[in-house]
Amino acid sequence: MKKTSFNKLKAEDQVLLRAAQAAMEKAYNPYSQYFVGSALLTPDGQTITGSNFENASYSVTICSERSAIVRASAMGHNVFKKIAVLGRGAKSPSKDVVSPCGVCRQMLFESSQISGAPLEVIMCSSDMKKVVIATIDELLPLGFGPASLGVNIKRFRR
Ligand code: THU
Repeated sequence: MKKTSFNKLKAEDQVLLRAAQAAMEKAYNPYSQYFVGSALLTPDGQTITGSNFENASYSVTICSERSAIVRASAMGHNVFKKIAVLGRGAKSPSKDVVSPCGVCRQMLFESSQISGAPLEVIMCSSDMKKVVIATIDELLPLGFGPASLGVNIKRFRR
């Protein structure tokens, strides 16, 4: 786990966070008014974004991270180098980073297992200052995954 700042990031990570920031503003969030955006980076340099999409039946809500993963899969991608995430409340930008919820960590763990490499998670405050970088293994130690079920998912890599 590493704490840094937006300005110190390499260009690739800054661009990915800017894509997540744009997606964040597209959140459908009438109930929480909380905005979250994510951007996945594929090994061939494609960026696929997601934002939270809420529902009147609250538990049906899908988080930005999972919406990005599902969207990427439908576009033919399930191998990722990293994901950038940020979030903010209804009004002003936040000074604190937002980290993926437990359900999203589980889903990111699956992505990491498909990729066969530790997925990097870049979390940024929505005032675009503070950054925390961690691997999914740090965010979800001893994660339950395909190996737990004896499933080899390599052939599902796309
Ligand atoms: N949310 C995300 O999009 N990602 C997370 O990791 C945490 C929570 C969304 C879900 C809901 O729309 C809003 O934030 C408030 O929980």
